[in-house]
Amino acid sequence: MTTDVQTRHFEEFAEVLLRCNHLYHPSNDSIALRNAVESRRQIEIFDYSRAADAFMRAFGMRNSLKCLQALTSLRATVHKYRRVCDLGCGSGAFSLAFAYLAGNPELQLHGLDISEHQLSLARELISAAGLPGRFQFEQRNLPAPIGYLPDLTISSYWFCENEHVIADAELFSLMAGREMLVVDYEKIIDRIATCLPKGFHILGRHSGHVEIPPALADFVAQERASVYGIHIGRATVETGK
Ligand SMILES: C[S@@+](CC[C@H](N)C(=O)[O-])C[C@H]1O[C@@H](n2cnc3c(N)ncnc32)[C@H](O)[C@@H]1O
Repeated sequence: MTTDVQTRHFEEFAEVLLRCNHLYHPSNDSIALRNAVESRRQIEIFDYSRAADAFMRAFGMRNSLKCLQALTSLRATVHKYRRVCDLGCGSGAFSLAFAYLAGNPELQLHGLDISEHQLSLARELISAAGLPGRFQFEQRNLPAPIGYLPDLTISSYWFCENEHVIADAELFSLMAGREMLVVDYEKIIDRIATCLPKGFHILGRHSGHVEIPPALADFVAQERASVYGIHIGRATVETGK
């Protein structure tokens, strides 16, 4: 993808995010949460039943932009995935970025999360964004069987909260689709690359920065953010026999 096309994608995606601005306006709680996280500079595990709304206002747009940046590494193939599953979808950051870039009316996007509060935010977000595709957000305590093999599994900042899945080949395989794209902290992406079980291979790794579009300056209190991602393929698809 050329720099011009990428810049245009970010500007257009900023318009989509701004259509949903009522869900992203900073609140006292979101500003306090952001300040607390920045002062600690560590991997945070939040209490999502209490902090879902504040988390979305503090980090939702930024996470979505990071996911869009990682998705641009899929280049033209983003349109080919029909059944896509977002693990730990939260308030829908990755789902939104995927649906925007795919622009695919055939898309069936399935978001899973343990927190009903987060899922209700994701449903609101996707409905406000009005992007093509069918969307279903469902409560699930992961890892757990998904019931089908997605063409692509996407996941942002879920593995950092479920690190045991990285080193457990069976659980990892349960969570991965035919392909999987993960956005997470650098050390988590490194760990996934190092622990990758037999039957999977790395299709690509992504590390870079996302420049926050100026139109979003009131919502994302930083000018650029780092992004780390990994794209994984499943070598053989088990038939269950
Ligand atoms: C850091 S948030 C990331 C949310 C979203 N993917 C994003 O990038 O903004 C992690 C999400 O994973 C969910 N989660 C954590 N552990 C989970 C589990 N065991 N099963 C299902 N969801 C889980 C949380 O409820 C939360 O919504």
